[in-house]
Amino acid sequence: MAEETPLTVVTCTAPVNIAVVKYWGKRDEELILPINSSLSVTLHQDQLKTTTTAAISRDFKEDRLWLNGEEANVGHPRLQSCLREMRRLARKRRGGSAGAAAPLSLSYKVHVASVNNFPTAAGLASSAAGYACLVHTLARLYGVEGELSDVARQGSGSACRSMLGGFVQWLMGERPDGKDSVAQQVAPETHWPELRVLILVVSAEKKPVGSTAGMQTSVDTSRLLKHRAEAVVPERMAQMIQFIRQRDFEGFGQLTMKDSNQFHATCLDTFPPIFYLNDISRRIIALAHRFNAHHGKTKVAYTFDAGPNAVVFTLADTVDEFVEVVKCSFPPESNGGQFLRGLPAGPALLSEELLSTVVLEPVPGAIRYILLTEPGPGPQPLDDPNLHLLGADGLPRLSA
Ligand code: DP6
Repeated sequence: MAEETPLTVVTCTAPVNIAVVKYWGKRDEELILPINSSLSVTLHQDQLKTTTTAAISRDFKEDRLWLNGEEANVGHPRLQSCLREMRRLARKRRGGSAGAAAPLSLSYKVHVASVNNFPTAAGLASSAAGYACLVHTLARLYGVEGELSDVARQGSGSACRSMLGGFVQWLMGERPDGKDSVAQQVAPETHWPELRVLILVVSAEKKPVGSTAGMQTSVDTSRLLKHRAEAVVPERMAQMIQFIRQRDFEGFGQLTMKDSNQFHATCLDTFPPIFYLNDISRRIIALAHRFNAHHGKTKVAYTFDAGPNAVVFTLADTVDEFVEVVKCSFPPESNGGQFLRGLPAGPALLSEELLSTVVLEPVPGAIRYILLTEPGPGPQPLDDPNLHLLGADGLPRLSA
């Protein structure tokens, strides 16, 4: 038996989200206030999630953090912002003042351990799931309820959208204090049951320029970004919400692709320019357009964030055929069995016509694997104590 310590422990999981109207650019670096609203789809945690355990104890000497088993710097300003905000809200909720009246447990130090079930910094929005999970977990630990997306936002802008499931908009807000820069659900994850999401993992390497630095340079130098934020995004937000409400895949898909392309155009308009797409990303874009042209309508829609991996939206009836097309276009090199991960897909027979007009010049090994998933819910508590990442001594149970 481990030594007995008065430990309060909470574990939660939180999802990744993928934007279909992109956030790129801040008007306030400190509070993380964006120059435009954005909209995303929350992905299912069965395939992609962050799990975080937070514990408080009288015995802890200092705040400590472990990321994927490695101890990390707890002094990171954004992490500190989230911790400070959550402690402030906890104090407020208990009716205490910041001083002597605060309950003792709020002065206790916290230990936090967090793991992702997907590669960090692979362009799969790990910081979004990470900060959403941290804020949600601390909220349960401290008994804080209500609007918390504005706290998650201060960890990473896109994290505020991971606080909710389904289809989520992040309203840019107007206030200098950011209180109205919050996430709102547009429709729940059950709204569009046929929608599927394929992540084509091109490379798991670290991205060249991080989003935070990248978007700052874009704000400073790109006239196109200014035009996008002021004149393009407001209209696109309204359109995208309509397409989602009507489950209009044609409209949703077209706008998703155009918005991704415009985001990458603002990256090229940044000076010096930023390149997130690589040759394989561009081949996937061309493949999607050939596939849609073959069908005479929008059957698949790609979007790319600050990295080369493609996220492809499609409907359930198209998954098998498109997976087969990807397999033929980027034949897996050795680990054939592992090529499709996540939800299963069935076999598909491709017509001669499709093969000759859509599958041109295969590039073996260019896609490492496909992860098939769907829209999913927001952060969830994990009630089974066996799943805590911190043991009774407040230290990580599993290393790495
Ligand atoms: C391209 O939320 O990672 O994924 O707020 O600086 O932490 P910070 O940036 P981050 O940027 C995400 C940018 C994007 C588009 C999006 O998710 O909307």
